[in-house]
Amino acid sequence: MNETLQSGLLSAAAYQRIDREVAKYPPEQKQSAVMAALAIAQDEKGWLPQEVIEDVALYLGMAPIAAHEVATFYNMYNLKPAGKFKLAVCTCLPCALRDGNKAGEYLKNKLGIDYNETTADGLFTLKESECLGACGDAPVMLVNNKKMCSFMDNIKLDALLDQLRQEGR
Ligand code: FES
Repeated sequence: MNETLQSGLLSAAAYQRIDREVAKYPPEQKQSAVMAALAIAQDEKGWLPQEVIEDVALYLGMAPIAAHEVATFYNMYNLKPAGKFKLAVCTCLPCALRDGNKAGEYLKNKLGIDYNETTADGLFTLKESECLGACGDAPVMLVNNKKMCSFMDNIKLDALLDQLRQEGR
């Protein structure tokens, strides 16, 4: 672990995970691990406060503004506190034409929130997603940036919400 550069905002385990990502690149290109490092930081913190983004940048020896640009460009990074489960529904055109928007509207009604909002119980944050590369499976969504859900009709959306509520207890 790079003891001289870490500020202690993340756990030792998180810095070790970042080290493993850094090791995949030549030493002079360790900034290439920035996306993975930000994801690791978010896994631990739940979101990416500015000081955590700066900490990651410092750790990778890059300008904070460069890490900030990455964090703001990709919508998988949470720049404010998010619910325990982030539901990102693809509403890009190919999906929109195949009920992607309908799935988003259904979730808005069920959860009582709009896009980019979080339910009062802190369980769900609803987002719109860019193309997830599974247009043929529309409506599609991603849970917590990792779990892909396909063909999400209302029945499957209800089942997913029930399952996540159980997990979130
Ligand atoms: Fe939705 Fe491609 S447009 S997955």
